[in-house]
Amino acid sequence: MPATVICGLQWGDEGKGKATDLLAAAVSVVVRYQGGDNAGHTVVVGDEVFKLHLIPSGVLHEHITPIIGPGVVVNPRTLLAEMAMLKKRGIATDKLRVSAAAHVIMPYHVALDTAREGAATDGGIGTTKRGIGPAYGDRAGRVGVRMGDLLEPDLLRRRLAAVVEEKNALLVGAYGAAPVDLEALYEEAVGWGEQLADKITDTTALVQRALADGEHMLLEGAQGTMLDLDHGTYPYVTSSNPVAGGACTGSGVGPLQIDEVLGILKAYSTRVGAGPLPTELKDAVGEHLTEVGREYGTTTGRRRRSGWLDLMPLRFAVQVNSASSLMLNKLDILTGLPQLKMCVAYRVDGRLVDSWPLPVAQLERAEPVYETFDGWTEDLGGVRSIAELPKQTRRYMAAIEERAGAPISVVSLGPERNQTIRVDGPRPVRSAA
Ligand code: IMP
Repeated sequence: MPATVICGLQWGDEGKGKATDLLAAAVSVVVRYQGGDNAGHTVVVGDEVFKLHLIPSGVLHEHITPIIGPGVVVNPRTLLAEMAMLKKRGIATDKLRVSAAAHVIMPYHVALDTAREGAATDGGIGTTKRGIGPAYGDRAGRVGVRMGDLLEPDLLRRRLAAVVEEKNALLVGAYGAAPVDLEALYEEAVGWGEQLADKITDTTALVQRALADGEHMLLEGAQGTMLDLDHGTYPYVTSSNPVAGGACTGSGVGPLQIDEVLGILKAYSTRVGAGPLPTELKDAVGEHLTEVGREYGTTTGRRRRSGWLDLMPLRFAVQVNSASSLMLNKLDILTGLPQLKMCVAYRVDGRLVDSWPLPVAQLERAEPVYETFDGWTEDLGGVRSIAELPKQTRRYMAAIEERAGAPISVVSLGPERNQTIRVDGPRPVRSAA
C-alpha cells in the first residue's frame, strides 16, 4: 500500500505542518524524513497553538505513530524538551519512534555552526545555528554518532573520543570558541540513550511492516525545494534533501511505494536567512505580507523576507518533486492588496530567461517580469467552498495551476483546521476525498 509525500515547493515555511495535520485523520503513520530542529511547524488546534521542531505534527493525533526517520538529524536535548512540553500539555508521545540510523546533533555541531556563521566574512548563509550543516557533514564524512550508538556506551565512548579532539582543535584553534568537555558530553549522551531507549529502533522495518499491512502513511518533509542541498539555491541551502526524492532515502520507503506527492506552497514568497529572493519586496506590500502573514520564524523568531509569488522556481519544484497536486496556503493574506503580481520570467543582463535553475550569481541580478492580477477585498476567513471565493481569487488560483503545471487540491484560508477547502473533482489526494 502506498504513501503520500508532503513537501515544500518554495523556501520553507509553506505550511506543511497544517497539511500533515489535515491529512492525518486518513493515515496511521507519519514519518519525518530530513532536516532537524532547524524546522518549525506551527499547528493551531482550537485555542491551542503547538510549535514543533522535530517531532512530526502527526503526534497531535492519538491514532498516529510519529516516526523520526533515518534521514533526520536529531538533537536529543531538543527531542527530550519537546516530549516534555507535549506531556505537560496532555499529548502522549508513547508511540513516537526514532530511527537508530538517524544522526545525533552533538553540542560541538551547534558550536561549530554558530562559530562559522559568526566568522563568515561574506555574511554567511544565515543558518538557524542548530548544528545542521556540521552534523550532516559528519554523517557524510562517516564520523557521526547515530541514535542507536547512544544505546551502546562503550561504542559511544570510542566514537566520541575519536572526534571530540578534532572538533575542539577547530573550535579553539580556528574560531577561539570554548572547547567541549569529552567526559561531560559522554555522561550526557549516555543519559539521552537511557531516556530514549524505548523510542530508538529500526524504523525502516516498522515502516515496511505498516505498508505491508496496508496502512497508509505520510512522509513529511521540512524546509523546501529551494533550500534543497542539490536542487536549491546553493550555497544558500540547508544540508539535506527536502525534495520528494529525499523521502525515500530519509524514511526507508521505496519509490514505487509512494503514490502521491502533495506540494505545499504559499500564495506569495518568503525566505529567511541569506540568498537570492528575486521577487522580494522592500515596500509597503512586502511589509503587508510579512506583518499580516505573521512571517516570523518558528525556530529563530527571525523576520522573513517577503515578495510576490515566483512561478519560475515553482514550476521547477513541481517537476523535481513530481507533485501530483498542490496545497495553496495563506491565500487570505493577499486580501486588501489592490493588485497582485506573479513572476513569470526574469530579465538577466538584458536577456529574457524563463527557465530554472539559474546560477546564484545570475539570480542575484535577475529582475522579475510580472503578470498582474486584480486583487480582492473580501475577508476569506469564513469561506468554505471554492464557489464562494471572489472571482479574482479564483483567477489567481487558475493562473497558478496553469503555470505551475499541477492542480490545486487543497486551499487554506486561515490557521484553523476548519479554514481549509478541499477542491472537488478527481484530485489525486486520496485522503482528501
Ligand atoms: P540550516 O538548515 O540551519 O543550516 O540553515 C540553512 C538555510 O536554511 C538558512 O537560510 C535557514 O534560514 C534556512 N532554513 C532552515 N530551516 C528552515 C525552515 O524550517 N524554514 C525556512 N528556512 C529554513
